[in-house]
Amino acid sequence: MLTDGFNRPHNYLRISLTDHCNFRCTYCMPNENMDFMPAAHLMQQDEIDRIAGVFVQLGVNKIRLTGGEPLVRKDAAAIMEKLAKYNTKLTLTTNGVRVHEFLQVFKKTGITSINVSLDTLNSQKFTQITRRNEFDRVWNNIELLLDNGFKVKVNMVVMKGVNEFEIPDFVALTRNLPLHVRFIEFMPFTGNRWLGNRVFTYAQMLELIGGHYPFTPLEGNPNDTAKKFKIPGHSGTFAIISTVTEPFCATCNRMRLTADGKMKNCLFSAGETDILTALRAGADIVPLIQQCLSLKEADRGGQFTASFEQLDATAMKNRSMITIGG
Ligand code: 5AD
Ligand code: SF4
Repeated sequence: MLTDGFNRPHNYLRISLTDHCNFRCTYCMPNENMDFMPAAHLMQQDEIDRIAGVFVQLGVNKIRLTGGEPLVRKDAAAIMEKLAKYNTKLTLTTNGVRVHEFLQVFKKTGITSINVSLDTLNSQKFTQITRRNEFDRVWNNIELLLDNGFKVKVNMVVMKGVNEFEIPDFVALTRNLPLHVRFIEFMPFTGNRWLGNRVFTYAQMLELIGGHYPFTPLEGNPNDTAKKFKIPGHSGTFAIISTVTEPFCATCNRMRLTADGKMKNCLFSAGETDILTALRAGADIVPLIQQCLSLKEADRGGQFTASFEQLDATAMKNRSMITIGG
């Protein structure tokens, strides 16, 4: 089992398949005309397979595929099929647009739980946020997943002045649909114009929801990032990911691999370790993985040095979200 310098066991790997996306969300992508990674710099199918295999040997038992948008990669299905053999819990985070094309692949590869990003229930606002007119497609695909028995978590990035007033509408969805809605505090990444005063906090979310519904906390699992709640009588649940105001780093078990094969020991790590180049050179990547993990900071890459209201996001050293994969 892999452990970091604080004795935290790490058994969860998030693999970004691509930095491309068919959406253009402003909070994730620095600008409309960003330069994407050249194809030769990306991990190839067999390289992803081999690297994942090493992580599995080191104790990883959960793999999440991310992006950009993982399902825009041409060989996304082939990659899922390769990774299925490891018998880890395999899952993915998607914007939902191409889900209908992959239903059979998900079933074949043992994927049973899918996270879909959706920040608004208003079609026009959806087009403003994503700069793509695809609300109906995404919503239909969420229903398609539910109809096919998948566990669906909906991720909503909450931004003050943009969509926080829709939180009760998202909670209302959980009444008749077995959806798990997760409200995520807006986080700073390179180029995403984050400001502390655009964060709608965990406490504010609970206060807002409490004004509409009675809710009770649900028992969590040891490595949960989300604090879960249930409203009596609702078929679904809601949860809050409070990375900015109440981080969950003490129980963190996550490692990341960017699409160009760099390992990040934290979403906010300043440093990264080039696993792909080492693999291509025929080197043993195990010591590199262990070393990268040993450098993991206790809390958020050591980069949240001030209270969030005081934080200067432009001084943080990281990547843009689209090149990390969340
Ligand atoms: N703050 C919080 N969450 C974000 N995501 C993308 N950018 C941000 C941000 N700045 C979310 C996506 C996706 C998940 C991987 O992370 O919406 O659901
Ligand atoms: Fe883990 Fe870093 Fe996220 Fe904290 S901020 S939970 S250490 S990935």
